[in-house]
Amino acid sequence: MLRKLDYIASLGVNTIWLLPFYPSPGRDDGYDISDYRSISPEYGSIEDFSRLVEAAHSRGIRIIIELVVNHTSDEHPWFQRARRAPEGSIERDYYVWSDTTEKFADTRIIFVDSQTSNWSWDPVACAYYWHRFYAHQPDLNFRNPAVVDELLAIMRFWLEKGVDGFRLDAIPHLIERENTSSENLPETHQLLKQIRRVIDTEFPDAVLLAEANLWPDDAREYFGDGDECHMAFHFPLMPRLFMALAKSSSGPIRDIMEVTLSIPSQCQWAIFLRNHDELTLEMVSEEEREFLWDTFAADKRARLNLGIRRRLSPLLDQDRRRIELLHILLLSLPGSPVLYYGDEIGMGDNIALGDRDGVRTPMQWSADENAGFSTATPSALDLPVIVDPHFNYQAINVDQQDGDQHSLLNWIRERLCIRHHYPAFARGGMDFVEVDDHKVVAYVRSLGDQHILCVINLANQPLATSLILSDFEGFVPKELVGGQSFPAVAARPYTLTLQPYAYFWLLLEHRYTC
Ligand code: NOJ
Repeated sequence: MLRKLDYIASLGVNTIWLLPFYPSPGRDDGYDISDYRSISPEYGSIEDFSRLVEAAHSRGIRIIIELVVNHTSDEHPWFQRARRAPEGSIERDYYVWSDTTEKFADTRIIFVDSQTSNWSWDPVACAYYWHRFYAHQPDLNFRNPAVVDELLAIMRFWLEKGVDGFRLDAIPHLIERENTSSENLPETHQLLKQIRRVIDTEFPDAVLLAEANLWPDDAREYFGDGDECHMAFHFPLMPRLFMALAKSSSGPIRDIMEVTLSIPSQCQWAIFLRNHDELTLEMVSEEEREFLWDTFAADKRARLNLGIRRRLSPLLDQDRRRIELLHILLLSLPGSPVLYYGDEIGMGDNIALGDRDGVRTPMQWSADENAGFSTATPSALDLPVIVDPHFNYQAINVDQQDGDQHSLLNWIRERLCIRHHYPAFARGGMDFVEVDDHKVVAYVRSLGDQHILCVINLANQPLATSLILSDFEGFVPKELVGGQSFPAVAARPYTLTLQPYAYFWLLLEHRYTC
């Protein structure tokens, strides 16, 4: 990682989100933690970690780490102790126990493909324990103040090591209550406020990023009044970007943005196209899910739980125009864009691998053995490198794309560089622009007197479209990549022609007249 920091900096990325690196039995790729205060030896040591943090900071890069708050591994010493501890003891109550599986019956199952109940029997404790994910991930009991203290101590431990924040895994599920869905309970929000108070007092620069796969209204709650998480992933936007593309319609984007309420000024959405999990389709209707499954996962092996376990480029049939289009949306819609490693070079996946492993294969750095990812014997790799005809690492790798000025990698670098240049993309407001064709989505991002008009053709056909830009009469649109000026906006609708899947980012410059 130390050797790759310059690459990350060269992308224009300013924050790394590290997936779990803690000691773990690895039955959920590290989301099953058995020790929160060290590093799994296969990744390095605490000293290595400190070097990484220091080296990242010296390049202006921040590091956000995973904090799997909701559950531990069943191999964690807390669970081993709890199952043997007397009923009613503090140690036993680190987890949630029951004599029956009837309790919290209104709570849904998340991993529907592999779990049939949120309760599993523990023969040592002679009781059922609660788990929202895999059975080997017992849920912690946050009604026990000792557990809250443990969590705060773990946060302090890593913040003292210099980390810049935490992605808080699965936080809607922290606390459960009878006759509720056991998600987003007021108690959970109270707990987050308590955590935030500690962060604000002791580590005011740290960021809390909520993983809460929810509708905008519910996700909005995780910002509180600016006193819970600083950031939250915008889950419902993601499938709608794919839907807008598949239907060649601006509707899905407009609909979701219109119900995305404003958030406290110091907060921000994290927006994304893909990540290490399945492309979740929980935040769409059943009909929309069927449509997205049929469109993007006709091969049923690609379906997992309520989602699709594929990477971006294979989802889009390696179509460079559509890959660019989704990135143009990602980089210009409100929120901090989060890129998934490998998507910047159009990496492929391997659906023959189990669970979500197919989208977690080694980064393709070069055409060297193991894609330059490791010098180990190939059979010793945790997951194999991609070797299929379209996506193999000899053809798709950083080395190759670095030297090609027209590569996807360099295209993304250039867009990120432009984005950094114009704060309106990061902090600006957003107003949809009226267009005469639903195949086009157009909006203006504005911050102070900086206005950027984004116009995107979601269809695989050339078209001319008219935009109502009354507020910008007299302004001159300047294309942000090539710097060319377009005709000034006049009183009548503004016409643009766009190639299939083409887009413009146009700075609206005020033309002063004396
Ligand atoms: C969300 C993580 O992103 C996912 O990979 C994991 O399996 C679950 N939480 C359970 O920790």
